[in-house]
Amino acid sequence: MFRFTYRLVIVVGFFLSTISASDATAKENLLVGKRMFNAYCSLCHGEDGMGKGPLSKKLKLKNGIANLTSDKYQSMSVQELLRLIQGYNRENTRMPKWETVIPERNLREVAAYVLALTQTDLRMRGDVRRGREIFRQSCVACHGPRGEGNGVLAAILQTKMVNYTTKKLIISDEAIIGIISEGKGEMMPPWLGTLSSEEIKDAAAYVRSLYNKD
Ligand code: HEC
Ligand code: HEC
Repeated sequence: MFRFTYRLVIVVGFFLSTISASDATAKENLLVGKRMFNAYCSLCHGEDGMGKGPLSKKLKLKNGIANLTSDKYQSMSVQELLRLIQGYNRENTRMPKWETVIPERNLREVAAYVLALTQTDLRMRGDVRRGREIFRQSCVACHGPRGEGNGVLAAILQTKMVNYTTKKLIISDEAIIGIISEGKGEMMPPWLGTLSSEEIKDAAAYVRSLYNKD
């Protein structure tokens, strides 16, 4: 157990140094929490927090793994959840005592992200930054550099484009993902196959972030 912990410290230290430039806004902190959750918790708890991560099958647990999306945890405060994650009053469990390997500040971000697991907001499910890169590579030709619908190809094709930045977002997250995956109308291409479903989620999250929200 000691050896396991020791190795984890090194890995976590390295990981943190790669994301330490994180911005101070609450949303950015959730994104840090998300990256940490995916790197350290999803192995057992699953990316969706429901307890079916790939390692969970190896652990042969009698009582299974806590479902972090259940009311029991979702009704807790960040502070209460933080305590559980840190590992207070806990013996004989396969749940690591994270207190010893991840700084409290970061565990707080993980706890906040756990409470955001049940949110359906796309910006939480996709990675906006990666989405922006994908958009720059594959979408600007028609949608324009800032999603205003003024791309050169749109002009050549004489296609009527949407301007994401002025439009009020009336379509759902699922609809955005659906349109990017399967295409729409005469000119919006289907991207599933060219892009992975992860990349489509990221691109969708970026598109969502462009829409004017008032
Ligand atoms: C090696 C597998 C494993 C990893 C990795 C893991 N957990 Fe757990 N976790 C468990 C198990 C198993 C339980 C069920 C509780 C028990 O058996 O005592 C649990 C329980 C929990 C609980 C509920 C505790 C309670 O008292 O009700 C929370 C909250 C939790 N984990 C959060 C996390 C977070 C956040 C991370 C990442 C920083 C994480 N876990 C990583 C295995 C893991
Ligand atoms: C060849 C030009 C073209 C390219 C390239 C293109 N689109 Fe489109 N896109 C369109 C057109 C045209 C529409 C409007 C379709 C309609 O409503 O009939 C559209 C519509 C959309 C919509 C729906 C907007 C709404 O509010 O209804 C989304 C979302 C979208 N595109 C995302 C993307 C993404 C992400 C990419 C890159 C991966 C991309 N598009 C690349 C032409 C393009």
